Amino acid sequence: MTDPITAIDPGSGRRERPRAHLASDAAALDLTGTWRFHLSPTAAQAPAEAGEPGFDDSGWDDIAVPSHWVLQRTGEWGSPIYTNVVFPFPVEPPFVPDANPTGDHRRRFDVADGFVPDGGRAVLRFAGVDSIAIVHLNGVEVGIVRGSRLPQELDVTSELRVGENLLHVRVHQWSAMSYIEDQDQWWLPGIFREVTLLARPASGLDDVWLRADYDPSTGSGALLPEIRGGYPVRVTCADLGLDATLDGPTDRIDVGPVEPWSADVPRCYDIEVFNAAETVTVRVGFRRVGIDGDAWLVNGRRLRLRGVNRHEFHRTGGRVFDAEQARSDLMLMKRGNLNAIRTSHYPPHPTLLDLADELGFWVIDECDIETHGFGMLDWVGNPSDDPAWRDCYLDRVERMVERDKNHPCIVAWSLGNEAGTGVNLAAMSEWIHRRDPGRPVHYEGDHAGAYTDLNSRMYPPVEELEDLAAGIGDNGSGIDGTAAKLLDRPMIMCEYVHAMGNGAGGIDGYEAVIDAHPIIHGGFVWEWRDHGLLTHTADGTPYFAYGGDFAEELHDGSFVCDGMTLADGTPTPMLAEYAAVVSPIKLVLAVNTLTVTNLRHAGDTSDLDFVWTHERDGHPLASGSLTAVVQPGESMTVDLPDLDISARGEHFLGIAARLAAATPWAAAGHTVARTQLELTTPDRSLRSLAGGANEVSRRRRPERGEGAGAPIQLGEATFDATTGALLRIGNLAIGTPEVTLWRAPTANDSLSPASAERWRAIGLDRLHVRVTGVEMDETGLTVTQRIAPAGHSRALLATLRWTWGDGLRLDLTAEPVGDWPSTWPRAGVHFALPKGYERAAWFGTGPAENYADSRTAARVGRFDAPIDELGVAYAVPQETGHRADLRELTITGSYLPTLTIGTNEAGGRRPGFTLSRYSAEELAAACHPHELPVPGATHLYLDAFQHGLGSSSCGPDVTAEHQLWPRDFTVSVQLHVAG
Ligand code: GAL
Repeated sequence: MTDPITAIDPGSGRRERPRAHLASDAAALDLTGTWRFHLSPTAAQAPAEAGEPGFDDSGWDDIAVPSHWVLQRTGEWGSPIYTNVVFPFPVEPPFVPDANPTGDHRRRFDVADGFVPDGGRAVLRFAGVDSIAIVHLNGVEVGIVRGSRLPQELDVTSELRVGENLLHVRVHQWSAMSYIEDQDQWWLPGIFREVTLLARPASGLDDVWLRADYDPSTGSGALLPEIRGGYPVRVTCADLGLDATLDGPTDRIDVGPVEPWSADVPRCYDIEVFNAAETVTVRVGFRRVGIDGDAWLVNGRRLRLRGVNRHEFHRTGGRVFDAEQARSDLMLMKRGNLNAIRTSHYPPHPTLLDLADELGFWVIDECDIETHGFGMLDWVGNPSDDPAWRDCYLDRVERMVERDKNHPCIVAWSLGNEAGTGVNLAAMSEWIHRRDPGRPVHYEGDHAGAYTDLNSRMYPPVEELEDLAAGIGDNGSGIDGTAAKLLDRPMIMCEYVHAMGNGAGGIDGYEAVIDAHPIIHGGFVWEWRDHGLLTHTADGTPYFAYGGDFAEELHDGSFVCDGMTLADGTPTPMLAEYAAVVSPIKLVLAVNTLTVTNLRHAGDTSDLDFVWTHERDGHPLASGSLTAVVQPGESMTVDLPDLDISARGEHFLGIAARLAAATPWAAAGHTVARTQLELTTPDRSLRSLAGGANEVSRRRRPERGEGAGAPIQLGEATFDATTGALLRIGNLAIGTPEVTLWRAPTANDSLSPASAERWRAIGLDRLHVRVTGVEMDETGLTVTQRIAPAGHSRALLATLRWTWGDGLRLDLTAEPVGDWPSTWPRAGVHFALPKGYERAAWFGTGPAENYADSRTAARVGRFDAPIDELGVAYAVPQETGHRADLRELTITGSYLPTLTIGTNEAGGRRPGFTLSRYSAEELAAACHPHELPVPGATHLYLDAFQHGLGSSSCGPDVTAEHQLWPRDFTVSVQLHVAG
């Protein structure tokens, strides 16, 4: 007998034919809940008789089904393992280690007389078991289930009894299937989706496929039914005035005028299909998907995908589906202008697709196949190209397509991810083309475009994307001329702008290329959510664990935390940045006009109010609202009122497109797009804090106190006479500013090419200061410093010029000398202020952190926030919270003097600021937020420049224009202390 663990067949036993996941009125028994459970360290040690009804499981434990046992009692029942590409076991397919954790699950349940109607059948459905399940009912083996994230139904009619039944499911963590389920995620064994006993009536509706076609030229809909069940069948829909009786298989039911389905206007119709034995409800959306040359069309219009890759993940449940979380995630996606989901890298829980139909997303449904680990072996032995695996591959695509075929949201099928290339993938594609010609086939690994319909790329730099759109290159296929050949089909980026940690920067660069080349239909951000697992330290401190936190032998660290939302669902600033860059409503302001362009697939802009605001120095002067009804694909220019910009100060005109009424995913007032135009007349921007008459009239001269070592007094500021260090201003022991070039490396700084390594190599994280001069003159104090790393002669020569006028003014200039062979992360000054400050209010950019290559979402205005909310608690502490172009910052805290910092323009720029409880060094030293020290200070950074963010944790580095190369810099500020 073949060993079930190493077998590579699709499954065995009385497997039912794959079919749609249907809402039916036939009886069903939900078998989720508490089961009995026993874990064995090896398959051989699993209790031999556990499938027998009489087996005594009183010594076993309880477990929840669905669940992953490693997340139920972490440690006691094994631990999660995170690997991206590498297999966590020796590669010798189809063999797996002897140490193969094996979970025996038992459940008793009662079946009432008549549960299975006369002549009917009993079917046991497993919606998802990782990795394989061997199933016994009442002591009889009824089947082996393979394909972790696909449903499998088993016919158990002859084993089911009226009264008590005993179901035993043995789950092995590792099997031959693990070789084709090597996705970048946690390895999590268990029965993680529902188990249901279905009573199938004789002549019931075993399968129903209602293809719902829409003809964009006539506005009419048609149902193309494919029904497996007893006829006659009635098909009704009140909303459509439809009531058709089918006496036998029928090709088409014309339904007349319908409202089409699209991600923007997701109009669904509930259709009842019933016969004498069963009623099912199918939610349809009328739409027509097609490819015409390089255009991927839905309802005759080109798609524009503003997408995201979505894994199934919950911080405590792992891949156990949480419907509430899924709904709120999809609502948040909609609010973030995301309109597409790639179900990376396996079919999701079926409810997710219901939600996508209802809320409106274009979905690429992906099959559960990834063999990435073979890539490390030059793809030798890759199952994708081994005929022995053919049935298994075909079975998986069939189970996906049959389960999900009714969903209007699905606009393409994907064969899987990172599985090399080969005959089995080509066979899957051929199967889909036959079964569902109405949807294109996607697979990124088909670089030669041999068997798929879409040209899909991952993480191309912007220049490469442009080349591809121009037909230049081999498209990664190794075959000259491939890119040119593939101009005959639509192109997408199935993954781009890697959301790991702080970033990705440079989203706008992609958007510009997509705008310029209609062949590129958009892309999918990698990815939606961090997969951090909620864990506790020995003293009970919660944190999100990543690879290595469970002492895995091989792991890929924090690469599993690369979402636009943290593991608990908190959006990172990248979501707002993405929303701002990709918004389908484009707003362009000129002095007296607003141009609105509607890039939605469907729906005009009558749902939006356009609210304008005129601000002077961040304070509103006037505002108003207007409407502009713009059809999809069109633009309109409307007049704005004349604004009075004569008063001195900075004038900004802002416009926001806001939802006029609530939608199923956002409240009224939600901002879909916004922009801002500066109206300041250049000679009128002077503001009092920046110095002027006041400053000059109040200027003081520095004075040295009596006696050796006595400090220097400049106005209310006190300096150390020897070092020139600032000691205090009035009551505030402010501490002297240190010139700094170091930031806590972001995930993008740390991974290939690792800027952070180069920064450390040239000593940016360990600069020493030598004071070279402290000089007083009539109007102030000048301190000069040489700042340099150990072991090298390179240095920064800094001059700190202090004057007292309207508060204490610092004019810092710095100049690099010697050999500086790498970029810098920042160029600025660091103040370690007393701890205890609580809030910040600023006039500058906000509301969220922004960097040189990530500031589309930022606007100039007045903002305030608690210091704790200025930065993001990324899974790995790193640089966070920078806000460019600061005008004025006020920092307050109980019992502490209020500190106000006004900035002066230097070289046409103002510094940005970061305010945090942690220094760059403290952030850089911690691997998790809970490892950060108890704050000893409040850290204020004022940066003349910061290096951009880029996307090099997986993708291109910071683009040349946003790189910070060694250069002279200036920071000029006024410090005021009150109270
Ligand atoms: C891709 C892969 C994803 C993920 C991503 C990096 O190559 O398809 O699963 O690993 O890179 O986070």
